Amino acid sequence: EEEEDERIYQKYMDLISTLPTERGCTSDHITLYQGFWHLPTSSLLGVMAVQQHFKARSTNILLASTPKSGTTWMNALIFSIVNPLYDFSTHPLLTHNSHECVPMLEISIYKTSQIANPDVLPSPRLFSTHIPYSSLPKSTIDSNCRIVYICRNPKDVFVSFWHFADVIQIKLNKDQPVISLEETFQMFCKGASPWGPYWDHVLGYWKASLEWPKRILFLKYEVLRSNTSVCLKKLAQHLEYPFSLEEEKQGVVEKILELCSFENLSNLEVNKSSDKELVPGVKFSAFFRKGQVGD
Ligand code: A3P
Repeated sequence: EEEEDERIYQKYMDLISTLPTERGCTSDHITLYQGFWHLPTSSLLGVMAVQQHFKARSTNILLASTPKSGTTWMNALIFSIVNPLYDFSTHPLLTHNSHECVPMLEISIYKTSQIANPDVLPSPRLFSTHIPYSSLPKSTIDSNCRIVYICRNPKDVFVSFWHFADVIQIKLNKDQPVISLEETFQMFCKGASPWGPYWDHVLGYWKASLEWPKRILFLKYEVLRSNTSVCLKKLAQHLEYPFSLEEEKQGVVEKILELCSFENLSNLEVNKSSDKELVPGVKFSAFFRKGQVGD
C-alpha cells in the first residue's frame, strides 16, 4: 500500500513539475494549479490527493477559508457546537489546538506520500480546507454536506500572513533571501499568494453561497468579532445543531464564546508555549498573534 501511495504522489510530483511557478514569500515557491497559487510540496500534493480520493458524506461539515482569515477560531467554534456534551472544565480545546480537532483535508489527512483514511473519523466528520470552491472534490458538492466559509478583510489577511510567513520562514529555512513587504504586497494584489488570487477564492464561495444558501454559509471575520453571539447561533442553525432554549438558559452560548475567545485560546499551554506543531516548523502558537480587526 505504501508503494502504491508513493507511486500516486510521484505522479502528482511529475504533474507539478510542469506547472508555472513564482517566487513565494515562504521558503516554498508557489505553483499555479487550476487558476490558484499553491505551495507545491506542503499543500498542492495534498490538494491533488483530496481531489482524487476524498469522498464527502452528507453529514460532513467543511470549513473553508483562505489562510489567516480566522480558520483556527472557526474550527474551535464549529467543534464546540457539534460536540455539546463536553464538560467545559475538561473540554478537548483546553488541551488541543483546534486544528487537531478539525483536521485540514489537504495538510493533515492527505499528507505528502501518506494517504490517511478519513473513514475512521467519528461522525459527523469535521474538516477544514483552503481549497478554492472550483477545485473542491465533486463529492463535497454532490453530497450536499454543509460548508462554512470564513472571509476576512484582505488587508488584515495580508498583514497576518506576512507575520505568519516570517515566523515559519525563520523556522524552516534561515538562509532564504527575504522578500520585502512591498514586493510581497504587490504579489498578493496581483493574486500570486498561497491559495490566491484572494479575490477569486472569496468570490468562488460568495457566489456559491448565493446560489445554495442552505448548503453554504458565508461569514465575515469582522462581523464575527463584533457580533459573535448572533453569528454563533446562525452558525449552529446552519450546521443543524441549533441551541435549545434549555441550552441558551444554561448559558452554553456564552460558555462557547468564552472558551473560543482569542484571549482564552491564545493563553492555553498548547497554543502558547508547547512545542506541538501542525506540520514540522509550524507550531500551534503561530496561529495566534493579535486577533484584531484593522491591524
Ligand atoms: P492576526 O495575525 O491578525 O492576529 P488562521 O487561523 O486562518 O490562520 O488565521 C489566523 C488569524 O486569526 C490571526 O490573525 C490570529 O491571531 C487570529 N485568531 C486566532 N484565533 C482567534 C480567535 N480565537 N479569535 C479571533 N482571532 C483569532
